[in-house]
Amino acid sequence: MINALAERRVLLGVTAGIAAYKAADLVRRLREAGADVRVVMTPGATGFVGPLTFQALSGHPVRVELLDADAEAGMAHIDIARWADIVVVAPATADFLARLAHGQADDLLSTVCLATAAPLVLAPAMNQQMWRAAATQANCALLAGRGVDRLGPDEGRQSCGDNGPGRLVEPPAILAALERRFVSGALAGRSVLVTAGPTREPIDPVRYVSNHSSGRMGYAVARAAAEAGARVTLVSGPTALDTPAAVTRIDVATAEEMASAVRARLAGADIFIGTAAVADYRPAHVAAHKIKKDAATLTLALERTTDILAEAARREPPLFAVGFAAETGDLERYARAKLIDKHLDLVAANLVGTPGIGFNTEDNELVVFWADGQRRLTRAPKDRIARELVALIADRYAQTRAAATSADAPAAQEARA
Ligand code: CTP
Repeated sequence: MINALAERRVLLGVTAGIAAYKAADLVRRLREAGADVRVVMTPGATGFVGPLTFQALSGHPVRVELLDADAEAGMAHIDIARWADIVVVAPATADFLARLAHGQADDLLSTVCLATAAPLVLAPAMNQQMWRAAATQANCALLAGRGVDRLGPDEGRQSCGDNGPGRLVEPPAILAALERRFVSGALAGRSVLVTAGPTREPIDPVRYVSNHSSGRMGYAVARAAAEAGARVTLVSGPTALDTPAAVTRIDVATAEEMASAVRARLAGADIFIGTAAVADYRPAHVAAHKIKKDAATLTLALERTTDILAEAARREPPLFAVGFAAETGDLERYARAKLIDKHLDLVAANLVGTPGIGFNTEDNELVVFWADGQRRLTRAPKDRIARELVALIADRYAQTRAAATSADAPAAQEARA
């Protein structure tokens, strides 16, 4: 199962319904799925479940009041509205649906819902008669017309003793629906080959030449490609990372092992993404026995390794080749040179040497170059950057294919004539 919620910022709104206790279970499940969860409650909701419960489960303070002098010092209601990747209101009462439908902003949660550009998902819960009421149905239709998503309500026995529609959709179903929203399908049916991590080039049986790559960026790219619906094979140098869900991983150590693992899988690939920090040189001779420290100095002769990315980019028929470039200056010039020299479709470049960005760090920032364009992906955790990069790759890949098809069309017509 793909963990599409990992590192997603979920803002959970809780309104004043008896089902508010189920929202606590939802927070727990969201956290287990790797999401970063913040909870905003309406004042009425705190009569059903205390904010402390949500604070303990989410690991963050719960916001209730719109005019909270401390929190509002930095326009917190706008900050939190911008922070969210998705806003989920569960349970959403009839009153909340009505206020939302009419654009009211008389408490923190309704204000955040107005102020956010993130998708809004509502899970209504109320008495069946209230749900069937013409006003509630009209409010739901209005909200649906504005692109607000609704989950449920479910039918069944209600806490008031009635039977009918109005029960909150169960937390596992809400979780599954949220996961589905993040699985884009932009690479559905495509086969993606990713290299990641460092390589280790042996000097003797106990020593090697390597680098500081953690593999995190490559693993995040593999995960994001799988979320986008691709079949993903990850050829990985030694890392301490878990294999992302729904990704096939092949472990290698040296550049040559990585090169042959890639060669063996190139035939079926549509897209190749080289994120690995492949050693450019390896010791020309590997000592059969541990080198003893007899000599005062030791010189290692190094020889070039295969450029795996350049080799992949030369495959016939062509695949869509994406490279990474780590530069300490003159980003565009060097990145564009790689694009041309290695026959790439896209280069994702980052400035290394910037504190907090690049090798062995949590965050990254990329400038992506292609023949006639470029886009900056601003500093963010690697998972988020990877998702943005994969969305861009899917977009450029689709455009390249469309261009190739239309270029082929006259030739195909001629051939038929
Ligand atoms: N790459 C590769 N095989 C190699 C070397 C690099 O597949 N033997 C890939 C990397 O995965 C990355 C890109 O090529 O996608 C990096 O290009 P490279 O020319 O190695 O970058 P630098 O090491 O920065 O090169 P230079 O020192 O020439 O700037």
